[in-house]
Amino acid sequence: MNLIVCKNYEEVSAEAAKIVFEQIKQKPDSVLGLATGSTPEGLYANMIRANQAGEISFRDVRTVNLDEYYPIRPENDQSYRYFMNQKLFLHIDIDRSNTHVPDGTAADPQKEGLRYEQLISDLGGIDLQVLGIGQNGHIGFNEPDTELDAITHKTDLTPSTIAVNSRFFASEEDVPKQALTMGMRSILNARKIILLACGKEKHTALQHLLNGKISTHWPASLLNLHSDVTVICDTAAREG
Ligand code: F6R
Repeated sequence: MNLIVCKNYEEVSAEAAKIVFEQIKQKPDSVLGLATGSTPEGLYANMIRANQAGEISFRDVRTVNLDEYYPIRPENDQSYRYFMNQKLFLHIDIDRSNTHVPDGTAADPQKEGLRYEQLISDLGGIDLQVLGIGQNGHIGFNEPDTELDAITHKTDLTPSTIAVNSRFFASEEDVPKQALTMGMRSILNARKIILLACGKEKHTALQHLLNGKISTHWPASLLNLHSDVTVICDTAAREG
């Protein structure tokens, strides 16, 4: 596992952007696995800036997002589809038909999971997966448990994730209780993975990733099974 420790959030975002740009320069039609949440917003701002400055084009890039609340409509301003459109897709030269998010309106979540896996495979697999990390060590919405799902599936959010995510909603009751998420295999199949972690709240989860041991109770720790993971964190997350 490669570890890059940065002074602050801005540096973390810039380091992540460097890796994304390098990937796209090497393969202009790269498949990027993307995350939502607060952490990658700075990366997305860098992508927008570089695109608008004419430094990089996303014309041929394809994207697959990790997760989506369930059930939720894409036009709901709390949906991850809405987040991605607002924070990135609407501001860069990507073809929006090449951007994919699990369908929060799917009548049959199991079928949607299989469709999403097939889609990732039809795209040729994920070249570079961007991850955040939950305070409880989740990646995507693979929440700590005695067993974890391998492929894209519907999952219950833990009370702690609902509490943490309530900051985006009027109240905790408004936070959806379920989500569709890529599974551990979907994530680990990516050719290259970067995980961004900022703030002391992430310290414990990061420790469980960096100590080299694997536990389904700290889902991010399974990234130790992958041979090309770069963790980019700030000193607060590293030192606690
Ligand atoms: C979001 C996702 C989650 C977040 C995690 C950290 O698509 O998959 O695993 O990455 O909850 O969220 P932030 O960045 O808001 O701390």
